[in-house]
Amino acid sequence: MDRKSSAWVWLLFPLVGAGVAETTDPWTHLESIAGRLVFYQMEGNATRVRNTGELASRVPTKTTFERFDPQKNFSTAKFTYTWDLGDGQVIRGREPVVRYRYSASGNYTLRLKVGANVTTYSPAIADVYSTEVQVLDAIKSIELKGPSDYQVSKNTSLAFHVDGSPPMWVCWRFLTDCVADEAASCTLTALYGNTLRLNHTFTAAGVHCVDISVHNDVSRMQTSFSLYVRNNNTHLIFILSCAAVLLATFSFIAVIACRPRHRHGSQVATCSNAVFLKNQDAEGQSAIVFNFSDVAKGEKEPLLTQHGTQ
Ligand SMILES: *[C@@H]1O[C@H](CO)[C@@H](O)[C@H](O)[C@H]1NC(C)=O
Ligand SMILES: *[C@@H]1O[C@H](CO)[C@@H](O)[C@H](O)[C@H]1NC(C)=O
Ligand SMILES: *[C@@H]1O[C@H](CO)[C@@H](O)[C@H](O)[C@H]1NC(C)=O
Ligand SMILES: *[C@@H]1O[C@H](CO)[C@@H](O)[C@H](O)[C@H]1NC(C)=O
Ligand SMILES: *[C@@H]1O[C@H](CO)[C@@H](O)[C@H](O)[C@H]1NC(C)=O
Ligand SMILES: *[C@@H]1O[C@H](CO)[C@@H](O)[C@H](O)[C@H]1NC(C)=O
Repeated sequence: MDRKSSAWVWLLFPLVGAGVAETTDPWTHLESIAGRLVFYQMEGNATRVRNTGELASRVPTKTTFERFDPQKNFSTAKFTYTWDLGDGQVIRGREPVVRYRYSASGNYTLRLKVGANVTTYSPAIADVYSTEVQVLDAIKSIELKGPSDYQVSKNTSLAFHVDGSPPMWVCWRFLTDCVADEAASCTLTALYGNTLRLNHTFTAAGVHCVDISVHNDVSRMQTSFSLYVRNNNTHLIFILSCAAVLLATFSFIAVIACRPRHRHGSQVATCSNAVFLKNQDAEGQSAIVFNFSDVAKGEKEPLLTQHGTQ
């Protein structure tokens, strides 16, 4: 017995009983099960309807099949629902609802096969609903990756790692002394990766704040970082102290080199016109040759030769 004729059997009873002759084919309406898929996601205590085809990953998700049957043609039918989530999960049940979660971001095709047995004798009716879902990772963190040192009047490029699925929309602003100015609006930037680079030149020393608000289609996150910006003077002090250390080192070397030494009873009293030569001998040892030209005696021979391992 084919599907149409058996549908007749079922439909004929009420029609015959009412004594009404139907001229059109009434059973054709029962060939499809009308309805739509609705997605819900639970975030904490809140439940959100997600009907844009975008879902957040790792979030409890509920999908329902809302049947459209105003004339209650299927009121006595028995249904079976087969949910193929597209990521390998297949769930079967008799209720028009499925609970699951996508564990990873990506694009999936969710297929629902709805089967209905209107009567014990009629053949099963089946329909397939298919929808594309884009699963995105919610924004979980915003981390400052560098630099760690900030100076006044220096072009600084700050890098932030934003953990979430792109594309994301970022609105950022810098606040001097962390004072929120009523008029301070944020600058909107689209982020197509996970690294946000902000270029800024700090105009004053002290504590500055950078406010960042990021959202993608499934989540939103706002955070603020405080940065300590120091004056360039500190840099100058550092250079000066380095210079002082270098000066002290060279003075020490000069003092060592010019120190009066006894050599065959005579003294090398002067250290003017000293020439430092560095020789590499055969054993790999380096020899520092202090070559003095004694102006007074007009000597051309080296007066002192010092060997040492470096
Ligand atoms: C339900 O059946 C009636 C006839 O009994 C038909 O006119 C109507 O279109 C059907 N509705 C649906 C949604 O199939
Ligand atoms: C969410 O539920 C927790 C208890 O589970 C409660 O403490 C909190 O106030 C609730 N938050 C909202 C926004 O209702
Ligand atoms: C519908 O009928 C078929 C046999 O025709 C059976 O395999 C299936 O389990 C039935 N489904 C329900 C929901 O009763
Ligand atoms: C998913 O599909 C959207 C368009 O619907 C596309 O922009 C995106 O790149 C796709 N994502 C992946 C991971 O393929
Ligand atoms: C700051 O440096 C970046 C490169 O690091 C450059 O793209 C940007 O134009 C510079 N801005 C200013 C104001 O010099
Ligand atoms: C900062 O500069 C880098 C180049 O160094 C550039 O790629 C980035 O887009 C800039 N950021 C902003 C917000 O202008």
